[in-house]
Amino acid sequence: MPKAIFNTHVISVTLFLLIYLIKTVLLLANKSQGLAKFTKMVKVPEMIISTLFLITGVYMLMQVGTTKLLVIKVCMVFVSIPVAIIGFKKSNKIMAVLSLLLIIGSYGLAEMNHIRVEKQTVDSAVSNTTAANYDIVKHGESVYTAYCQSCHGSGGTNGAGGVDLTMSQMSHEAKLERIKNGASSMPGFKDVLNEQEINAVDAYVETLKK
Ligand code: HEC
Repeated sequence: MPKAIFNTHVISVTLFLLIYLIKTVLLLANKSQGLAKFTKMVKVPEMIISTLFLITGVYMLMQVGTTKLLVIKVCMVFVSIPVAIIGFKKSNKIMAVLSLLLIIGSYGLAEMNHIRVEKQTVDSAVSNTTAANYDIVKHGESVYTAYCQSCHGSGGTNGAGGVDLTMSQMSHEAKLERIKNGASSMPGFKDVLNEQEINAVDAYVETLKK
């Protein structure tokens, strides 16, 4: 996925959140004049920002496929919109706060998606590089099972939300870079996997190519 799309999404979501935060604060502080003024001022930018945020979001969803977390996130965003519209129209503070919480919550879920990687145990029988029968692909396979299978599925043919690795046209270098740094909802692994594990999982992924 082009980085520009992902970045546009993050920036537009952040701006959207900021606008909502300010509006909610004004509403809670009973500054109805200030709120009306602010709403008028941000009307056009808000339209552009929310369009960008929805379009990039839908595009990313189509590229990435759905995961349970993503479905929850998208539902939260879509529930928050009518709640926010009605909340602000009726100056209903509870609804305004609720919609803000929903948006912040879904934003938080997005962040969670990125930092979810935890150290897993990889079978020491295959990870011992000094063993005479050390096989980098076998080592890679066990790393794959522990860290990648949940998203990319068994054998790389797509699981819940990763792309089909058997169809990947990516160069070797680009793959290594992707495994280290991640992209969109794929986390980077450079902090949990050592160089050897990254090379091994990359070697295994290479063998999946059809
Ligand atoms: C949380 C889910 C998730 C996990 C875990 C995950 N990936 Fe991914 N992976 C993705 C998503 C989503 C993409 C598509 C990202 C994009 O290009 O926007 C992707 C893309 C890739 C690509 C690029 C394929 C291509 O041709 O575009 C490679 C290679 C890859 N993953 C390897 C791995 C390896 C190896 C692991 C384990 C160390 C791993 N992934 C773990 C979700 C995941």
